[in-house]
Amino acid sequence: MAIEQTLVLIKPDGLKKSLTGNILTRLSETRLEIAGARIVRVTKELAKEHYALLKGKPFFEELIKYIMGEFHERRKVMALVYHGEGAIQKVREICGATNPEEADPASIRGAYGRITTSGIYENAMHASANPEEAEREIKLWFSPEELVYHIYPVKEAELKKVKKLSWA
Ligand code: TYD
Repeated sequence: MAIEQTLVLIKPDGLKKSLTGNILTRLSETRLEIAGARIVRVTKELAKEHYALLKGKPFFEELIKYIMGEFHERRKVMALVYHGEGAIQKVREICGATNPEEADPASIRGAYGRITTSGIYENAMHASANPEEAEREIKLWFSPEELVYHIYPVKEAELKKVKKLSWA
């Protein structure tokens, strides 16, 4: 099996339901390594980029609000990159199918997901669906410096006049 990386998001409903520990424990069964982790305030731009392939779907606008945390008083998600052999499939299996009603009841989405009255699937977590999506998503949510292993090529550049926060 190939060494892969995959993006996991603990979505706002997952955070609100206090599922972080539970999801991380389930994912540790895979024996994959965590290569990066961040708490991210999701901007509209990031949300739209992340779900770019779904643009035009009837649920798109609601989906953007959902991932931005507008329905859960939690304007953040937890983003992680899992690294190791067959990472994409292994994580996707624990995550479960997109529709929580159809997901294996023992999967995260099957156990904790729901369909809202407006028809949105609130399914607690995201996991990249395939290698192309994993690469696109990881590069969207993480910079190379935030990952301890690199499977995609990186380049070095000298930056001038970059504004950065530091401790005052
Ligand atoms: P998608 O990328 O198709 O699935 P997955 O998250 O399993 O890779 O869809 C993205 C999210 O959009 C999905 O997690 C929940 C939401 N969604 C709906 O609310 N309704 C739908 O009919 C679909 C297909 C997705």
